[in-house]
Amino acid sequence: MEFTTAESFLHEGLLQSFELTKIIVRIFFLTGQNLKQYILKTNVYPREPSPLKELREVTAKHPGNLMSTAPDSGQLMGMLLKLINAKKTIEIGIIAIDPNKETYEIGLPIIQKAGVEHKINFIESQALPVLDKLLQNLSTKYPDNEGSFDFAFVDADKENYLNYHERLLKLVKVGGLIVFDNTLWGGTVAQPEEAVSEDRKESRRSIIEFNKSVSIDQRIEIALAPSGDGLTICRRIR
Ligand SMILES: C[S@@+](CC[C@H](N)C(=O)[O-])C[C@H]1O[C@@H](n2cnc3c(N)ncnc32)[C@H](O)[C@@H]1O
Repeated sequence: MEFTTAESFLHEGLLQSFELTKIIVRIFFLTGQNLKQYILKTNVYPREPSPLKELREVTAKHPGNLMSTAPDSGQLMGMLLKLINAKKTIEIGIIAIDPNKETYEIGLPIIQKAGVEHKINFIESQALPVLDKLLQNLSTKYPDNEGSFDFAFVDADKENYLNYHERLLKLVKVGGLIVFDNTLWGGTVAQPEEAVSEDRKESRRSIIEFNKSVSIDQRIEIALAPSGDGLTICRRIR
């Protein structure tokens, strides 16, 4: 793969000065930020339902706010949910399965005000054992889960994305969708490893492995939408 790094600019003879190259890279970065703001301000925020706006604003005040899924990705998923008329959905990371209930409780008053709490079954747990339990139909509350979900969203530990994918492929019906967040991992998937900060390396490797694996997976159709931090949409076809 060829990388457009400051160095490759120099090799292409576009610029002679590394300092100048840094400025150009920064301009590209700013343009990306401006475009993102443009999309949010023109297309996303004006149409955001008020509970989602409230949720976004509450989340913005939380120290872990960087973790939240981008509003444009949320809008795209809202569209997908309507297009497939999704009734039964599952989320890994915050709303449905999460080891940390505190974050769910931040959003709970908003969920209650929106009158949808009865539609959500929050499970405080590591996700893999819950998915395995669902597949074994061990819960009396939720029997017959295989092939019963219309839609799944995953935004949890990147190291387990492929494990979640395998289980969700059984839980989601043929024609259903599994959507994974952060599949561009801040753009680092297209950077050489040495350019990536230490704390991002392990997840980057998992995401690269995940992206490679789903790209050749014949059980699904895929589209990687460059929305938010990258949203991979997988449609189960067999
Ligand atoms: C990036 S955040 C999700 C943010 C969420 N999409 C939002 O917009 O608010 C990832 C979440 O996954 C949860 N998580 C991480 N590892 C997990 C695991 N093994 N099982 C279940 N949840 C996990 C974390 O506790 C965290 O709440």
